[in-house]
Amino acid sequence: MTDRGNSAESRDIAHYLHPYTNLATHEHTGPHVLTRGRGVYVTDESGKEYIEGLAGLWCASFGFSEEELVKAATEQLRTLPYYHGFAGKSVHPAIDLAELLKEIAPVPFSKVFFANSGSEANDSAVKMVWYFNNARGKTKKKKFISRLRGYHGVTVASGSLTGLPYAQADFDLPLDFVRHTMTPDYYRGAEDGESEEGFASRCAQALEDMILEEGADTVAAFIAEPVMGAGGVIIPPKTYFEKVQVVLKKYDVLMIADEVICGFGRTGNMWGSQTFGIKPDILTCAKALSSAYLPISAVMITEEIYQGLRGNSEKLGLFGHGYTYSAHPACAAVALRAQQLMQERDVLGHVQAMAPHFQARVAKMNEHALVGQARGVGLIGSVEIVADKETKRSYDAAAKIGALIQNAAQEHGLITRAMPGDILGFCPPLVISSEEIDELFDRFTRAIDEVERQLKQEGATAAQ
Ligand SMILES: Cc1ncc(COP(=O)(O)O)c(C=O)c1O
Repeated sequence: MTDRGNSAESRDIAHYLHPYTNLATHEHTGPHVLTRGRGVYVTDESGKEYIEGLAGLWCASFGFSEEELVKAATEQLRTLPYYHGFAGKSVHPAIDLAELLKEIAPVPFSKVFFANSGSEANDSAVKMVWYFNNARGKTKKKKFISRLRGYHGVTVASGSLTGLPYAQADFDLPLDFVRHTMTPDYYRGAEDGESEEGFASRCAQALEDMILEEGADTVAAFIAEPVMGAGGVIIPPKTYFEKVQVVLKKYDVLMIADEVICGFGRTGNMWGSQTFGIKPDILTCAKALSSAYLPISAVMITEEIYQGLRGNSEKLGLFGHGYTYSAHPACAAVALRAQQLMQERDVLGHVQAMAPHFQARVAKMNEHALVGQARGVGLIGSVEIVADKETKRSYDAAAKIGALIQNAAQEHGLITRAMPGDILGFCPPLVISSEEIDELFDRFTRAIDEVERQLKQEGATAAQ
């Protein structure tokens, strides 16, 4: 290890246990310390500026310097920095935010519950479903069906719903209440000559088979991201959710839309549920709810589910679930302001105006020799790297091609993320301009070209 003295890097290595980081490698590489943000850009300690091509973790929708959100937080912190919601206590920003969320929701919801993260929102949804099914006497109906490569968080229940091995291996997850059905990945999953609609039917059939195998009286809910994010930005094949929801209705299985990434404009509508025709019984959201300036998430439930919770709470004396920071006033005030700004500035209109250009630049990546498929919707997209475009053969995982491209992009001033399967994601702040979209993809192209040259050189050397 190089001697870093008493620098931020050395203190980071000594004291800070990083999430989602190779802890052993980190001891040598050290942290990448970011210090400032401006619009879609962030700056590191050395003064180098990057386009944040993933809006942090798919979340900072207003970019990194929105004064209105800072003002909303500081005003609330000065007025009432903390209060809770237990035993009927309340604060104005929470009331206003719950009301606003119901107004903009994709279907009529009855009540909004607040938590602090996507994981907590999904854990809360799991508990509410169990509580609801106990309330209505369906005491065996408790299993959840999620999808392989779905991402729903890391807490014990949400980490079980997640369908990615890296979040589960050696954590003794998933717990036994979860089953994972197939990924609606048309590029990888379709059979030769199979249409998108045909593939969607097969996905729905697999779901139905699973429900029947488990016993419909044991399956409580199905959870899905409208567009899978961390699983590789998987756009559902045409008719997928339509067919899936027919199956769910048939067996009285609740539909939970995990809108943690898709919510608040990402796919070109306010909700991914609107883009893909989902009618959820429960909707979870977080991230862009507050543009990630402060942590807050929400769970929206229908009147029917609310009545179940209400009845049980009456019987038991209370609805025994909630967090110290549920609807924290500063977080709620920032979220409320973020959603007001969405409306005042017609951010959705901006997303719709930018999406065709963004998607044209995503689609152009299909021409690249290393890209098997480039895909996206609204202001989210990804490229899947392959060794052979014809056969879709991937590079050996050990070659870490995705990470190579991610690192090259960083050198070229773009932060993006390599996901399993050498898939690189694009999910910039929603406020990105047309010029910045060009800059993002120009930088990415320089990076991927550079990696392609390296691979050719290595190939030539190996052949010698
Ligand atoms: C779709 C989805 N659901 C849930 C989560 C978990 O959210 P958090 O990291 O805030 O717990 C994420 C995080 O990326 C997500 O993308």
